[in-house]
Amino acid sequence: MKALILSGGRGTRLRPITHTSAKQLVPVANKPILYYAIESVKNAGIDEVGIIVGDTHQEIRAACGNGEQFGCRITYLQQDAPLGLAHAVKIAEDYMAGDSFVMYLGDNLVPDGITELVKDFQAGSYNAQILLAHVPKPNEFGVAELDERTGRVVRLEEKPAKPKSDLALVGVYMFDKSIFTAVNAIKPSARGELEITDAIQYLIDNNYRVQSHIIRGWWKDTGKLEDMLEANRIVLDSLSREVLGDVDETSQIHGKVRIGPGARIVNSVVRGPAVIGENCVIRNAYVGPFTSISCGCIVENSEVEHSIVLEGSSIQDIGGRIEDSLIGKNVLVGRSANRPRAFRLMLGDNSQVGLI
Ligand code: G1P
Repeated sequence: MKALILSGGRGTRLRPITHTSAKQLVPVANKPILYYAIESVKNAGIDEVGIIVGDTHQEIRAACGNGEQFGCRITYLQQDAPLGLAHAVKIAEDYMAGDSFVMYLGDNLVPDGITELVKDFQAGSYNAQILLAHVPKPNEFGVAELDERTGRVVRLEEKPAKPKSDLALVGVYMFDKSIFTAVNAIKPSARGELEITDAIQYLIDNNYRVQSHIIRGWWKDTGKLEDMLEANRIVLDSLSREVLGDVDETSQIHGKVRIGPGARIVNSVVRGPAVIGENCVIRNAYVGPFTSISCGCIVENSEVEHSIVLEGSSIQDIGGRIEDSLIGKNVLVGRSANRPRAFRLMLGDNSQVGLI
């Protein structure tokens, strides 16, 4: 069995971060979200991983390499335009060479892993296996309608205005080679994409065996800021304490906190769960629960909580507390002494700022 991880999407809902960076490389607890997907398939015993890449292919290739760091072999498959998930499957036909595979959307997080699900699929005689989860806003996902009597999937609809159930399609699918018949048979949807939901519907309509599994554990599609922050929260909560950096005697570290090598915590309070990357400087500051600070950041005379800060950024002399925020790479958030007193901003397109 192989894996197909999709990492070509543009991440429009995470702009401006995704103007310069692939959304699948935004870190959750200081690790790119995409790494969780690769580790998940590797843990399920899969060594051959195809990654679908688009405009951001260079960055993805640089981050994942040939797969050695994960103990698997990665092959990159270029998708020239984001023409849909089923289009991505089409591109992978030669690579799969008749093998069954797990398709995993690179911005999805399934913390419990997929090992059991992969085993089930391998043991069964299904052509496809889909995962479903109860969600509060099904209209934002592919939605499954089940037959009340048999529990079998009868219909799938992509982001319906009037969902027939609250069961969303999780971004992890298992297929045998019959999916290629389906993706080659369907037509683009109203939004001009080849939808994987339509391909699976084709399998259902043509009497292929499609198995569904309702997952009870936590699952997140990290397409939006609040989902990123929630994913960060859940993953941080599962980490154990590890203090490798330097903590001076006037500082306090509470709870599950990971501090990377070379980091310095000076006269500060860090309250976990939180992670502070290599070579950060936290001085006269408070870092609160559910915060991930990537390597090489400075937080000084400031407070940060429930946020993700990417590498090389500085937060200095802020009067209030930064909360619920995603701050990009090499960002400076500071106080200026210049007169007249004013907010002076240089913000990327689609930025969001909440001032008090
Ligand atoms: C995609 C699929 C959708 C699925 C979702 C899961 O949507 O089209 O059916 O429920 O992933 O993350 P997207 O997030 O690409 O809009």
